[in-house]
Amino acid sequence: MTTVRPMTKADIDAVYTVEAQSFRSPWSKHSLLGELKNKVAHYAVMELDGDVIGYCGMWVLFDEAHITNIAILPAHRGNGYGKQLLHASMRVAASFGAEMMTLEVRETNTVAQRMYGEMDFSEQGFRKRYYTDTGEGAKLMWNRNIVKTVENNTCLAETYLLESEAFKKGEREA
Ligand SMILES: CC(C)(COP(=O)(O)OP(=O)(O)OC[C@H]1O[C@@H](n2cnc3c(N)ncnc32)[C@H](O)[C@@H]1OP(=O)(O)O)[C@@H](O)C(=O)NCCC(=O)NCCS
Repeated sequence: MTTVRPMTKADIDAVYTVEAQSFRSPWSKHSLLGELKNKVAHYAVMELDGDVIGYCGMWVLFDEAHITNIAILPAHRGNGYGKQLLHASMRVAASFGAEMMTLEVRETNTVAQRMYGEMDFSEQGFRKRYYTDTGEGAKLMWNRNIVKTVENNTCLAETYLLESEAFKKGEREA
């Protein structure tokens, strides 16, 4: 079973590995470290057998959660972990007061778009040439009721362990 817990300083190298293997323009370790000091940022790592295999970052501002990044190591994709991590992140976001969740996704990233669609996100805007590395546009996707999605997918919660108390305590600097 996978575990979802807060990202700490000790995870930065592992999270950067996920980032570098997942994105054309990865965030630097410095940027990831900076997020640990950002009061509105909540970053979760997913572990399998003690190894970090994915992570999800978000900013929660009032009733809105904005996903900054979500990725699973290539070797572990297609096993349902991405959906578990998104479900867990919605639970964390809701625990900090979010009701809605939003994100930008590359127009060509059909795998991620499909995952978001299955978790009740829909396209509600488009930003042309948003990604400067390829000139691709970004689809803006929203889920306006994350609690409903969490509840409609309770079976997912049985497939991973969420260390929810650790998120509430802000255990991120360890
Ligand atoms: C997007 C990502 C996080 C999904 O992680 P994952 O662990 O492979 O996803 P899951 O196995 O939970 O699959 C979730 C859904 O994604 C879709 N999906 C996954 N793999 C797919 C594939 N090869 N082809 C088409 N759809 C696919 C399916 O809808 C799937 O749900 P289903 O299997 O119940 O039908 C992963 O592909 C990734 O890290 N990609 C690179 C980083 C990225 O693009 N992040 C999103 C930035 S906006």
